[in-house]
Amino acid sequence: MNNTEKPMETNKNMAIKLQNVSKSFFSEGVEKVVLKNINLEIKQGESYVLIGGSGTGKSVLIKSIMGILDIDKGDIFLDGVEVSKIPKNKRIKMKSSIGMLFQGGALFDSMSVCDNVVFGINVHNRLSKEEAKNIAVENLELVGLDSSVLSLYPSELSGGMQKRVAFARLIATKPKIVFFDEPTSGLDPIMSNVINDLIIKTTKYLGATSFTITHDMGSAKKIADRIGMLYKAEIVWEGTPNSINTADNKTLNNFINGIY
Ligand SMILES: Nc1ncnc2c1ncn2[C@@H]1O[C@H](COP(=O)(O)OP(=O)(O)OP(=O)(O)O)[C@@H](O)[C@H]1O
Ligand SMILES: [Mg+2]
Repeated sequence: MNNTEKPMETNKNMAIKLQNVSKSFFSEGVEKVVLKNINLEIKQGESYVLIGGSGTGKSVLIKSIMGILDIDKGDIFLDGVEVSKIPKNKRIKMKSSIGMLFQGGALFDSMSVCDNVVFGINVHNRLSKEEAKNIAVENLELVGLDSSVLSLYPSELSGGMQKRVAFARLIATKPKIVFFDEPTSGLDPIMSNVINDLIIKTTKYLGATSFTITHDMGSAKKIADRIGMLYKAEIVWEGTPNSINTADNKTLNNFINGIY
C-alpha cells in the first residue's frame, strides 16, 4: 500500500483532540502556567488515563476539554467538532453526549437516589414517576445496586454507594465521552476495584471513550489502553500500561516510585 491509499487519520476518528492548548491563571498579577501547548489525541472507544502529581493541572485539563473553563490558546475537538470555537451557551447540544464523574461524586443532597439518577434525563420533568423509577432501577442495577436505595438520600449512603449512584446518574444519560476525575480517591482497595471494573464495564456497555484522572497506579494500569503523564504543564510521557515499568523517563519513574 502506498501512502495515498492509507486511510486518512482525520479529526473525525478522534473522540478528543487537543492542539497547542494553553491555560494560565493570574494571581495578584503573577502568571501561573497550568497547561502549556498540550497536544493530545484520543481515539473513539479508547480508555485514556492521565496521571500526575497533585496540583499539576489534571482537573483543569478535563474542565477545559468540557468547556467548564475557557482556554487561553489552542483548539479542542470533540468528535471532530471544534468545541473551543463554540460559545459556551451554544455547547448544550454537545454536552448531552459528554458525561463526567466529578472528584467527590457531587450528588444532590436534597434529592432522593431516584431523582439523582434520572436528573440528567429529566431536566424538563417530562418523565412520569413510574418511568423515572424504571430508568433509575435499570441504571442502578448496572452499578450493582437495587430498588431498595431508590428513596434514600445521599447522606444515608456509604461513600462507596454514593460513588455508585453518581455512576448510575452518569450512565443514565448514555454519554459517548466520559470523564472520571479521581474515581477511586477515598475508597478502600476493594471498593476501588469495584469502581475500576465499573469504569471498564460501563464504558464498554456505552461504547464510550473514557478519560480518567487518577493518582492510583493500580487503577491506571487496570483501566487504561494508554497512559499519559502531566508534569510542569506538559505531557511528558505517553505509553501503554505494559510499557510504564520499563519506560526510560526519570520524571515518570520518580512519580510511580513516589520519589519527589
Ligand atoms: N479556577 C481556578 N482559579 C485559579 N487557579 C486555579 C483554578 N483552578 C485550578 N487552579 C490552579 O491550577 C493548578 C492546577 O489545579 P488542578 O485542580 O488542575 O490540579 P490537579 O492536578 O487536578 O490536582 P489534584 O491531583 O490535587 O486534584 C493549581 O495550582 C490550582 O490552584
Ligand atoms: Mg484534580
